[in-house]
Amino acid sequence: MGRTFYITTPIYYVNDLPHIGHMYTTVVADVIARFKRMRGFEVFFLTGTDEHGQKIERAARDQGTSPQALADQVVGRYHQLWRQLAITHDDFIRTTQERHKAGVRELIRRMTEAGDIYKASYEGWYCAGCEAFYPETQLKDGRCPDFGHAVERLGEESYFFRLSAYQEKLLAFFGEHPDFVRPTSRFNEVVRFVEGGLKDLSISRASLRWGIPWPGDDGHVVYVWVDALTNYVSALGFGSQNLDLFARFWPADLHLVGKDILRFHCVYWPAFLMSAGLPLPKQVFGHGWWLKDEKKMSKSLGNVVRPDYLIRQFGADPLRYFFLREMTFGQDANFSDEAFLARYNADLANGLGNTFARVMAMARRYFDGKTPPEACGESVLRTKAEEVTARYLESMETYEFHRALEAVWELLAAVDGYVTEKAPWGLYKAEGASQRLSRIMYNCLESLRLVAVMTYPVMPSTAEKILAVLRTDRDRQQMVWGMLPVAVSLGPDEGPLFPRVDEKAFFAEVNVSEGQKGQEESQQDPLVSIEEFGKIKLVVGKVLTAERVPKSQKLVRLEVDLGEEQPRQIVAGIGSSYQPEELVGKLIVVVANLKPATLMGVESRGMLLAATLADGSPVLLTPEKEVPPGSGVR
Ligand code: MSP
Repeated sequence: MGRTFYITTPIYYVNDLPHIGHMYTTVVADVIARFKRMRGFEVFFLTGTDEHGQKIERAARDQGTSPQALADQVVGRYHQLWRQLAITHDDFIRTTQERHKAGVRELIRRMTEAGDIYKASYEGWYCAGCEAFYPETQLKDGRCPDFGHAVERLGEESYFFRLSAYQEKLLAFFGEHPDFVRPTSRFNEVVRFVEGGLKDLSISRASLRWGIPWPGDDGHVVYVWVDALTNYVSALGFGSQNLDLFARFWPADLHLVGKDILRFHCVYWPAFLMSAGLPLPKQVFGHGWWLKDEKKMSKSLGNVVRPDYLIRQFGADPLRYFFLREMTFGQDANFSDEAFLARYNADLANGLGNTFARVMAMARRYFDGKTPPEACGESVLRTKAEEVTARYLESMETYEFHRALEAVWELLAAVDGYVTEKAPWGLYKAEGASQRLSRIMYNCLESLRLVAVMTYPVMPSTAEKILAVLRTDRDRQQMVWGMLPVAVSLGPDEGPLFPRVDEKAFFAEVNVSEGQKGQEESQQDPLVSIEEFGKIKLVVGKVLTAERVPKSQKLVRLEVDLGEEQPRQIVAGIGSSYQPEELVGKLIVVVANLKPATLMGVESRGMLLAATLADGSPVLLTPEKEVPPGSGVR
């Protein structure tokens, strides 16, 4: 049986569109997956989406849609983006899938059987942004300690997990597995956190509907983090009859996560697994953040970068390269278009692109469009290539991608230097296509083949292009010297790999067109024309009847007079701020030509407008004096 490697990304929240933070984690996971496959591992690479919880419920309500519809829409965008970025995941799990829910139920069943779950009442400060409770002592200025989100006092009955019983077991496990968390500095933080004492964890919510019902108690849903973490095993069939994948791939070799969610993966998840009698993952890597102006990007700060325009203009490879080369894996790094372009021009257009073009032009000319007829045994370039390959492998194994790439670029520089030193053009002039010339050019081409093989995990499409020109197929992609076939026709010249980009022209253009698109997308504040605005039909309506939608805490069903023949039925998420009785007779503003939607089984044919306060509660918009129902608003 071959060696296996199971790698996961976090599953992404669907309350917002993906940005570079999400792209980064997934690209890194893809690079590792491709590298491991290349090294002969049977890889299972999992990614997916985290679709339950208050964050999603609120975002959906704010957008006047259902959580499931919002999730479906954002998931579509993720699929598209992963295609654009050449991500080779083997599975995409969604927490709303039945297979996942079965896994969560099984985990809870096992934890209950182990005697680790009890019911008690709970009160604490809850941050909806982080989906977590914080003790009073951890709050900063009355807000959540990490991001400064608003917190709210929540009190309710809840199921608890006996996390406190796992403090010693976790510390013992950490002691026996010094590689469990990387980088080491993060491991130390985790250990200190556990040494500081663990409190039992509330793992159900009675106040929330959008989640997996607690097994045997419909009044509660499972806490999102218990739900989310289970994806790593439910995707392998845990909780179902078919445990083949689970038997083959669990425990995971690597959970790749951002440093903000390390504690969930290194403390809670291992404790849940211990309780359920399951093996623990082998390693968790907590990578750093991409910063914009020295701050973490987040939707709430409004400084999110979505470099869709870079992917549109350059394709996936340059961005993948930038991610891996610019960030020292584990630390934070700044993102900017300037830094991206600088790397593009220096490392790709100039470094890789020019060296490849220069060498290939000579090879084509000297050997009639074929690879050189004679290979070469020993040479300085071979020595360099072998030293670089060894260093590359070592760095890739320890996830020091920037070092691995640095090594590859050293080999490129060595090829350049070798060509200048040997001056093959002089030899060709003097001797024609001689044996000596053949050996020199063989060394150059073989080095470039190795460069392509080594860059493959990071820039798959560029590597394939180079390998196609060098006529080396996949079987020959091993990282050993001497695989280049002699005297075979080279593949066609497809032009420069990375055309140089003029920075000034790029920024001028970015500002005028693409950048505007990028900006609009990134700030989620697109400009609309007056014509576009005109398509939205806003009308004053009078509420005739109002009642709560059964089983829903927030939804209210309204019949509204819009001056049409029949009253309109509208469902609005305002039930936590308004009693149905107080709505009757009110004048409100309605988007009258919105596509109908069904919310909890009730059709809504329009949307009312309300201001949204910081805590998400709505305040209805109403005309400042009495106007007849059906009056237009503009
Ligand atoms: N849903 C949870 C994870 C559950 S895993 C069982 C979650 N989702 S997330 O969408 O908010 O974040 C997913 C990943 O994106 C995290 O690893 C996070 O660190 C990463 N990033 C989000 N913003 C980031 C940057 N600005 N930079 C780098 N990565 C960051 O957390």
